Amino acid sequence: MTELGPVAWPPAPIRTERLVLREPEARDRTAVIELLASPEVGAYIGGPRPRDELERAIPRAPARRPGLFVVELDGVMIGRITLTRDTGHLRQAAGRAELGYLFLPRAWGCGYGAEACAAALDWFADALPGEPVVLATQTANARSMRLAAKLGFVEVERFDAYGAEQWFGMWSPGPPPGGARSVGP
Ligand SMILES: CC(C)(COP(=O)(O)OP(=O)(O)OC[C@H]1O[C@@H](n2cnc3c(N)ncnc32)[C@H](O)[C@@H]1OP(=O)(O)O)[C@@H](O)C(=O)NCCC(=O)NCCS
Repeated sequence: MTELGPVAWPPAPIRTERLVLREPEARDRTAVIELLASPEVGAYIGGPRPRDELERAIPRAPARRPGLFVVELDGVMIGRITLTRDTGHLRQAAGRAELGYLFLPRAWGCGYGAEACAAALDWFADALPGEPVVLATQTANARSMRLAAKLGFVEVERFDAYGAEQWFGMWSPGPPPGGARSVGP
């Protein structure tokens, strides 16, 4: 993976109305394992990973890198957002900054994903002005499709990969015509 870009990292924790976006901490490890082992979370992203494998593989010291945010509600991790470049998983995303989001199922249906992703995109727009962000998600992943649309991602193309139809969208900085960019509760 190549660097996200010349960004100042880590930023001060980003506070939204209900959430905090911050660097990973050692205390997040249990929630990270819960996230990656969850069948619901993994349903459209390659499936869950075995919990015992995760227990062995995930280090006590958290992995940190520019663009990797833990999302915290009332002091506890509920999800993770990534802004990465060149993960190599899709030709369409090559060289682009790409958004990814994973939230624990108990935190779904409250608007937390939208609130946190909007804040992460705001951070990105300040850090790398003028640069678009791309997003790939299965079209069958209805929650993710709704979130992408809410955030202002616009469809570029659909294609088949990993045995499923994928939606590839792009977000451009700046307010969309006729509305504000931020997605609040
Ligand atoms: C994708 C994912 C983050 C979406 O989570 P989500 O909670 O549905 O998304 P949002 O934060 O946009 O919340 C929207 C829901 O909150 C509801 N909501 C409740 N209170 C709200 C509030 N105060 N503000 C906004 N929305 C609110 C909305 O009505 C909506 O519910 P609905 O989908 O039943 O209509 C989540 O399903 C997930 O982590 N999935 C697994 C990982 C994954 O597949 N990631 C995609 C790969 S990139």
